[in-house]
Amino acid sequence: MSTIAVVPGSFDPVTLGHLDVIGRAAGIFDEVHVLVVHNPDKSALLPIAQRVSLIQQAIVDGGLPGNIIVTSWSVGLLVDYCVEVGAKVLVKGIRSQVDVAYETPMAIVNRNLSGVETVFLLPDPGHAHVSSSLVRQVAGLGGDVSPYVPPVVAEFLQSPR
Ligand code: PNS
Repeated sequence: MSTIAVVPGSFDPVTLGHLDVIGRAAGIFDEVHVLVVHNPDKSALLPIAQRVSLIQQAIVDGGLPGNIIVTSWSVGLLVDYCVEVGAKVLVKGIRSQVDVAYETPMAIVNRNLSGVETVFLLPDPGHAHVSSSLVRQVAGLGGDVSPYVPPVVAEFLQSPR
């Protein structure tokens, strides 16, 4: 039986750290679903469909494996999506102890809700300081985000909209 893993997040926008984790997950699990989810605690920069499209392009440009699909979910719980597609695993990237503290309660609640387990993966330490919120801030103030995001995202953020 093939194992489906879901890599959820806001991805607003996708960063090199996210891509690193997505690639690692794709090397472990048979099928990886990158799931763009609205986070009500954050004010969004990009529409969900735009985030999906940028991730898809970054995956192709980055030569990531073909067992990755990118989609979004806006109805109900994250684990409802997992149950619907038969995914037994959520994958989260952990940059620091701060991420462990943030992710652990969600992992326990998601398991209690559905039985879906959460696996924490460590990105390359070179990405430890990269976050979508920093990218949004730097881009919003006209700074260069190209060290932190895939080229397609840097081009998109730096082009007039
Ligand atoms: O990239 P982010 O913003 O840290 O991702 C957080 C996200 C979207 C994964 C989180 O907000 C989430 O799981 N949202 C889905 C809502 C849900 O199911 N909540 C209950 C379980 S914690």
